[in-house]
Amino acid sequence: MNDRLLRALARESVDRTPVWFMRQAGRYLPEYRATRARAGSFLALCSTPELACEVTLQPLRRFPLDAAILFSDILTIPWTMGLGLEFVEGEGPRFRSPVRAPGDIDRLGVPDPEDDLGFVMDAVRTIRRELHDRVPLIGFAGSPWTLATYMIEGGSSRDFARTKSMLFDHPRELHRLLELLADATIGYLTGQVHAGAQALMIFDTWGGVLSTSGYEEFSLRYMRRIVERIPREHESRAVPVVLFTKGGGGWMESIAHSGCDAIGLDWTVDLGSARTRVGARVALQGNLDPATLRASPARIRSEVARTLAEFGAGPGHVFNLGHGITPDVEPDHVGACVDAVHEFSPEYHRAS
Ligand code: CP3
Repeated sequence: MNDRLLRALARESVDRTPVWFMRQAGRYLPEYRATRARAGSFLALCSTPELACEVTLQPLRRFPLDAAILFSDILTIPWTMGLGLEFVEGEGPRFRSPVRAPGDIDRLGVPDPEDDLGFVMDAVRTIRRELHDRVPLIGFAGSPWTLATYMIEGGSSRDFARTKSMLFDHPRELHRLLELLADATIGYLTGQVHAGAQALMIFDTWGGVLSTSGYEEFSLRYMRRIVERIPREHESRAVPVVLFTKGGGGWMESIAHSGCDAIGLDWTVDLGSARTRVGARVALQGNLDPATLRASPARIRSEVARTLAEFGAGPGHVFNLGHGITPDVEPDHVGACVDAVHEFSPEYHRAS
């Protein structure tokens, strides 16, 4: 197997920097749009293992990527908790029965990974079978805090008004919800590892909207609990965990002490200084601005070169964007980015 990703996450030597992208499967690919149309909806696509497998593999057919990421969504957990999820075109996710009163939390149960989320486990098994060990498969979940924002707001939000009101006025209830979500996530990620996921990533997309003390109390604490309780080894191989808090650059030292193997960084952070701050403890994943992929291939190449130079020589870097690929990106530009990582990164991995 091409195990560059697993080696880099363990900060072991590699011949070149491994590369994959958040949202590497998605609407920027015409073949994704065709499969989604065949499925009928985004949620149907997520819950049909053969189709989820097909879209997972699509970017790997186009580009020599070093990892596959399970095609699913972080909102599968609240969806199976019975909040009634739909994806509204041009608007994003919407819950029919959001969490509004403390009593709403009492009605939520922890979903069983195989009984309630079996479609995700089946997708993982199907993808592993079809990958034939070409590259490792990354499983994932949302952070409890990020899931809670969607469940309380009822969808995407700009100011997180309801969630923050609960944080300040009813912190005990919010903690009860976060605890439930942490338990659900432990079961969910454990199920993914048993089904064949070889690395895990926790997406804390909205951790960055918290204060420093709020981040520690309402987000990092629960991610730490998850990291402590999920299997960190399976079939005699380490299963590395990446924590990604968008906007969390200021907290990377605390994140590095959470027990994770790697930190996902957004583009506001300089990889060189990040490495000085935490590099001996964890690997770093990132962090090209996704908007770079709208620029010319020449500009993309120079930004890739700059990002690799920022991290510098030696192992422990996984090349990625600082957030997901946007739907308006030209697939060829993604290819130019991968090619540039292949071309420029070997010089940073020569034996010294
Ligand atoms: O990275 C991958 O290729 C794997 C697939 C993946 C998706 N969602 C598919 C998806 C992953 C890892 C996610 C995680 C996810 N989902 C996050 C965390 C990462 C991030 O982007 O911050 C969040 C916050 C969600 C919730 C979510 N799902 C939102 C807010 C939306 C709507 C916004 C949008 O881009 O349309 C989704 C939908 C979604 N999830 C799409 C995809 C490919 C687009 C759905 C479509 O086909 O219309």
